[in-house]
Amino acid sequence: MAGAGGRVVFFPVPYQGHFNPVMRLARTLHTRGLDITVFHTEFRAPDPADYPADYRFVSVPVEVSPELMASEDVARIVMAMNASSEAPFRDRLAALLAAEREETGGGVQCVITDTVWYSAMAVARDLGVPVLSIMTASAASFRVHMAYPTLINKGYLPVTEENKDDPVQELPPYLAKDLERHEMGKLEEFAEMLRLMLAGARQSSGLIIHTFAAIEAASLDQICEDMSIPVFAVAPLNKLAPPAKATLYGEVQADRQCLGWLDAREPGSMLYVSFGSFAVVEPHEFVELAWGLALSKRPFLWVVRPNLIRGFESCELPDGVQEQVRDRGMFISWAPQEEVLAHPAVGAFFTHSGWNSTMEAISEGVPMICHPLHGDQFGNARYVCDVWKVGVELEGNQLERGKIKDALEKIMDSEEGREIRERMNGLKIAAEKGIKEGGTSLTDLIKLVDLIKSF
Ligand code: UDX
Repeated sequence: MAGAGGRVVFFPVPYQGHFNPVMRLARTLHTRGLDITVFHTEFRAPDPADYPADYRFVSVPVEVSPELMASEDVARIVMAMNASSEAPFRDRLAALLAAEREETGGGVQCVITDTVWYSAMAVARDLGVPVLSIMTASAASFRVHMAYPTLINKGYLPVTEENKDDPVQELPPYLAKDLERHEMGKLEEFAEMLRLMLAGARQSSGLIIHTFAAIEAASLDQICEDMSIPVFAVAPLNKLAPPAKATLYGEVQADRQCLGWLDAREPGSMLYVSFGSFAVVEPHEFVELAWGLALSKRPFLWVVRPNLIRGFESCELPDGVQEQVRDRGMFISWAPQEEVLAHPAVGAFFTHSGWNSTMEAISEGVPMICHPLHGDQFGNARYVCDVWKVGVELEGNQLERGKIKDALEKIMDSEEGREIRERMNGLKIAAEKGIKEGGTSLTDLIKLVDLIKSF
């Protein structure tokens, strides 16, 4: 079905946590009458068969060495991807503009890119196409990005043993240890990457953030004040668009059998364990987690991705655990996560506090046990546990079997757990309200569509 509102070009970043919200926004705009072209990296390409038939896909060659891609050096990866994609993105966008002019006499309404793709934003502007940027993580994280130079100047960064518990006066409720951490040397590179991202966002015609007003009103107000462009808070996009079918990681695909397995479980009895799409745990922590789950005596579904354990491509359960969990534990390499979280059997989510996972848990009203591992996850967990109070943070930096068992008992069986569940239900209702008529997210979405059509 061709839309009447014009064509929008999306350019998602090839990481599941960035890709999912951007493609969900594309789908949401598609249902509101806009035509969609997806520019995507040649590697980790999406499967067009998973999307509406009238979507167009354009492959952009982006060359980053496999060693760098496999590293955790976010700033170098992002800068390399931006440098390598700039010229091919320009060629392909120019070709699309020429084709659109010929076909329809019109152009492209706008390009929507992740704030991460600052070079694509610059190219689009250069070619005269309006640009909207999307922050796929929280508004609070965006504020951290904005404040990064100040945070370095004031000594909150790098995070050290001495400053780690210092409250960040400029960004409550953050403590220094909740900020995106990088050791000296890498910190400057990371700050430079953020500077480029923010400059791109500031020069765009609008900033879309995957959050909603009921949970982040103060941060959103601050961002609106600091950026002199329209800001749209449109979450939860996962409730506005169907779940992604395929992963970006080729052979790893969602195991749907687990849904049948969940059907046979009591409501609220299960723990779902997943650390997102690329976080890794140390080998000894994997053993502790396996034992923690074994000792808890509860049924669980655990996503054990290939490469979850640092230095290992696959993993084996420690001796003794298999016998204990045979009848009540299921291990899969990838879950249909949104459907799992929506399943009545799931009573709690043991998560690394990735922003999408957090948003999906809130959307389904599932309380969380938070074990943040890197990047924005520490800040997300702070909000979950201390501000919205809809989860508990696992004590200590390391996974330990006794602490896992305690956290599980607290969230599943205690009075505190019951209160957490009640508050989580309140957030779920707030999220639902936001995307209904008159709700803040739907209102922002309508304004966004109007803006796009006005270009
Ligand atoms: C990372 C950061 O952690 C996140 O905070 C940031 O905003 C984006 O980059 P990731 O670690 O992959 O993302 O976690 P998360 O944000 O939770 O995104 C993972 C996505 O993959 C979610 O949409 C989740 O539903 C999906 N997923 C994960 C599955 O569908 N199945 C799985 O088994 C695991």
